[in-house]
Formats: sequence, C-alpha cells, structure tokens
Amino acid sequence: MTLDMRRIIDPDTYFDHNLPPTNLQWAHDEVDKFVKTQSPDQRIVLVTSGGTTVPLENNTVRFVDNFSAGTRGSSSAEQFLAMGYAVIFLYREQSLQPFNRNYSHNTRGILSYLERINGQIRVKPEWEEKMGRDLDSYQKYTQEGKLLMVNFTTLSDYLFLLREVSLLVASLGPRVMFYLAAAVSDFFIPSHSMSEHKIQSASGDLTLHMNQVPKFLRPLVKNWVPQCFIVSFKLETDPELLGPKARHALEKYGHQVVVANMLNTRKCQVWLFTKEEAQNPAIIQISKEDVDAGKDIEQDIVEELARRHQQYIANAQQQDLSA
Ligand code: PMT
Repeated sequence: MTLDMRRIIDPDTYFDHNLPPTNLQWAHDEVDKFVKTQSPDQRIVLVTSGGTTVPLENNTVRFVDNFSAGTRGSSSAEQFLAMGYAVIFLYREQSLQPFNRNYSHNTRGILSYLERINGQIRVKPEWEEKMGRDLDSYQKYTQEGKLLMVNFTTLSDYLFLLREVSLLVASLGPRVMFYLAAAVSDFFIPSHSMSEHKIQSASGDLTLHMNQVPKFLRPLVKNWVPQCFIVSFKLETDPELLGPKARHALEKYGHQVVVANMLNTRKCQVWLFTKEEAQNPAIIQISKEDVDAGKDIEQDIVEELARRHQQYIANAQQQDLSA
C-alpha cells in the first residue's frame, strides 16, 4: 500500500464531495432538542470517542481502521456527568459506551454476568452491586436528559456529525467544551476515487492512493465554535515527537489545551499543553497499581480540565462585563 500525501483537500470543500451519514438529520434534531432543554448556565461537553474507519470501496467490504477502543472517551464521559456536565457523546459504533463499557469488549460476554434461578434470569450476586450502580447512573443521566449518544462509523460520518453538532452549540459560547479524544484518520480515499464494488484479487497486489484528510481542527477553532473551550488530543509513539507536535498544534490552531499521550502509556500518563505552559506542561499520572486496582486516569484529567474550563468561563464573563 502506498500513500499519496500530495493532494491535500480543502476542509471547506470536503463536505461538497463526500456523502453525509444516514443519521445526520436525526442527530441534528436530537442535539437541537438536547441543547434547548438545558438550563442557561449548564456546562455542556462534546466528547468524541473511538476510531474512524476509512472505506476502500463505495459498497464497502474492506476498510482501514485504528486501535482506539473508546476507553478514554467513555470513561471521561462518566466523569463529566459526575461533575455536573451535560454530555453529547459522539462515538464509534460498537466502541465502548459510558457505564455499559464495564460489560462489553472484555474477555467476558454479557451472559457470563447472568444466571437463572428458579426459572428467573438475574445478575450473579458478585456483580449485583457494581452493575446496579452503573445501571442507576446510566438511567438517571439519560432520563434527566444529561446524556445524548450519537454514533459514527466512517471518517466521513464523523466529520459531518462534528460539524453539525458544532454549528448547533456554537451560540452557547464559553460554557461548551470540546473534548476531542476520538482517533481520527489522517488519510482517506474520497468517494469519487473509490472503487464502486469490492476490489477484486484477480489483478494481484493492491496499491492504494490515499489523500490527506484536511485537519478539521482549523475550521472548528476558527469558524465553527470560536468561543468554545477546545481540548484536542495528540497521540504519538515516538517520545521525541510528542512535545514538539503538541506545541505545534497549539500554535497552528490557537485553541485552549492539547492533551498529549503516548500509545503505550496513555492509561497512566498524559501532559496538558497550553499557550502558557507550552515549555513546561502539567503532568497527570497515576501508578500502574492504581490502574490495576481499577482507577481511571480520566478522573484526574477531567477534574483538571473542568477546573480550567470554569476559569475560562469566568474570564469570558469578566471580559463581557468590562466591554
Ligand atoms: O480510545 P482509547 O483506546 O482509550 O485511546 C485514546 C486515544 C489514544 C485515542 C486518545 O487519548 C487520543 O490521543 N486521541 C487522539 C488521537 C489522534 O487522532 O491523534 P492525532 O495526533 O492523529 O490528531 C491530533 C488531533 O487532530 C486530534 O484531536 C484529532 O481530532 C485532530 N484531527 C485529526 C485528524 C484529522 N484529519 N483532523 C483533525 O482535526
């Protein structure tokens, strides 16, 4: 497979040349309703989670995917809810979901948590307390209208939905946080360049030309939601690149925070880069023992970001008063 990175697509024209997801109108209506039912001072966060797929055929049989399971996003969504945020959870279909995450994608299937006693199906006693807590939280937040889940699969679905949600929440300004933890593909094949049907193996080796996906952080920060508090994530595998790339993203897009993480240590260590702390980023870390004991680093990440978000809102209110 070879990558053709010379043809860079303009973010503004991307939407003219790619098909929207089938749930776009549904998502528009639900997000609109969700936002309108929140109180005027309610803090809202859009959490993006999981990886995007990149189809190789229009009638898709094969696609390129990535490693992200949605652990960061789903755990963070739970923390934001616990801290009083209303959460729009934009997640990859079949990746981890808040509260449900504890019973999926592990080595056990859902049936291993259940048993049948005297004809009645029930949760096994050793799981009752934890599952009860998760069930109560999940029902409470969804019934109170504090958690809305919107799913995507492909890169194109994700980008259309990200833009749609952004435009719907933009007018709420500083009280909205964007927490962009999804692992978004950097390369794709535009619809018009893709094979219509399943690529045939009869012609031998396969060479793919993939275009670079435009960096959507640019229009997001500059045009779609210029007043919101934006947190992007930077993932690297080479430790030499992490700091420089995080600083570069801050300079290039001019948003509030870059959370930098390494693939192999992302569950115990992240760095928070801001304009003021570009050379000396805050470190958030927990021990391997804490991770093994079931602690999520997202508790600390979200707590710190919520504190900074509060400050951002206060500063914006101060500026409004003095204007
Ligand atoms: O889901 P888990 O298994 O828990 O893993 C969590 C995580 C490692 C995926 C998460 O912590 C993380 O780092 N997410 C961002 C991964 C990523 O896409 O990094 P990047 O360096 O390729 O992109 C940096 C930023 O640019 C991202 O915030 C992304 O939203 C944005 N981007 C990326 C591609 C693109 N075409 N346009 C963009 O704007």
